[in-house]
Amino acid sequence: MQTKLRPYLDTNCDENDILMKEAGDIIKEGGLVAFPTETVYGLGANALDTDAAKKIYEAKGRPSDNPLIAHIADKEQVYVLAKNVSEEAEKLMEKFWPGPLTLIFEKQDIVPSGVTGGLNTVAIRMPDNQIALKLIRSAGVPIAAPSANSSGRPSPTLAGHVMEDMDGRIDMVIDGGQVDIGIESTIVDMSGEKPMILRPGFITKPMLEEVVGEVLVDKITVIKDKSQLEADYRPKAPGMKYRHYAPKAEFIMFEGDISKVVEHINELSKLNMEKGLKTGVIATDETISKYENAMVVSIGSRTIRETVAKNLYKVLRDFDSMEVDIIYGETFYDDELGAAIMNRLIKAAGYRIEEV
Ligand code: TXA
Ligand code: MG
Repeated sequence: MQTKLRPYLDTNCDENDILMKEAGDIIKEGGLVAFPTETVYGLGANALDTDAAKKIYEAKGRPSDNPLIAHIADKEQVYVLAKNVSEEAEKLMEKFWPGPLTLIFEKQDIVPSGVTGGLNTVAIRMPDNQIALKLIRSAGVPIAAPSANSSGRPSPTLAGHVMEDMDGRIDMVIDGGQVDIGIESTIVDMSGEKPMILRPGFITKPMLEEVVGEVLVDKITVIKDKSQLEADYRPKAPGMKYRHYAPKAEFIMFEGDISKVVEHINELSKLNMEKGLKTGVIATDETISKYENAMVVSIGSRTIRETVAKNLYKVLRDFDSMEVDIIYGETFYDDELGAAIMNRLIKAAGYRIEEV
């Protein structure tokens, strides 16, 4: 299959309208279109068509028990797909949609179980991106879209990342430039007694609690060490159990006083160099000039977590193309966006964090 890579132009023009019609038709006919959202690029198909959803799983190499998020362009579409939408959920929709928040509800029969990984719940979000909203309206159906990476790889934040993983496997990629946020939406389960965060993201726990009071957190989102999970523990979001976002090289993070972290990484990089191994370091604007004997890339300023989130997946992919043998990095814990950043980095590192 030839994958069409099409730019969405910055100005309002006929070309964009023609493109959105063509892309919407592909979705209607059961094909796959990758498109930008405000979080990461999504790989879209008709959310009401089991066969189209199957193509998503094939293109990504995704396990079929891992459900997809249905993307909508109007809040009212929620009631077509979901049952028992609570008042709390409506408050969250009012405050954060369109935006990087996915809500989980009991599903209506119209949603095929091939889209929900066999669950009787459905994940829904209204993205805050004009191209995404136009595509959903042009297709005339909700669009099921996981991140547009091959399963296990870092999520795409540029159309070029999507092409790296999906060229030849899908019908079209719409290039809308670099995404704004850079990490996937916050997922909140609204189908239980109390709202529960299943995946942290740009919309943080304090932001949610301001609207609906106490919000619980699934423990998979905060563990630092795989041994903290019982063997039979099942995260509520099935996707959270898989190794994810992984760069090709081994990746280890170091935690502790930042000057000690720098010193320790420098010692290891020197040893690697002596062994003929190429080291990559994920530094910050504050530390980049302090690292030696390694390929050093800044992920942004430690004081601006938004920039770190935006650059995170790009930096991991950039190290793949630099063909380093091992990657070292710093940590970014806090109670807000840092939690979402560390959730991704810990998984990218396969839970390897060492204290210095
Ligand atoms: O920002 C985002 O959410 C991006 C963009 C494209 O919208 N999408 C995204 O989709 O991150 P994906 O498929 O990469 O991640 C969806 C996550 C998975 O961990 C999946 O297990 C979980 O959502 N999920 C989907 N439906 C669910 C459900 N009914 N119950 C629990 N978890 C669900
Ligand atoms: Mg994903």
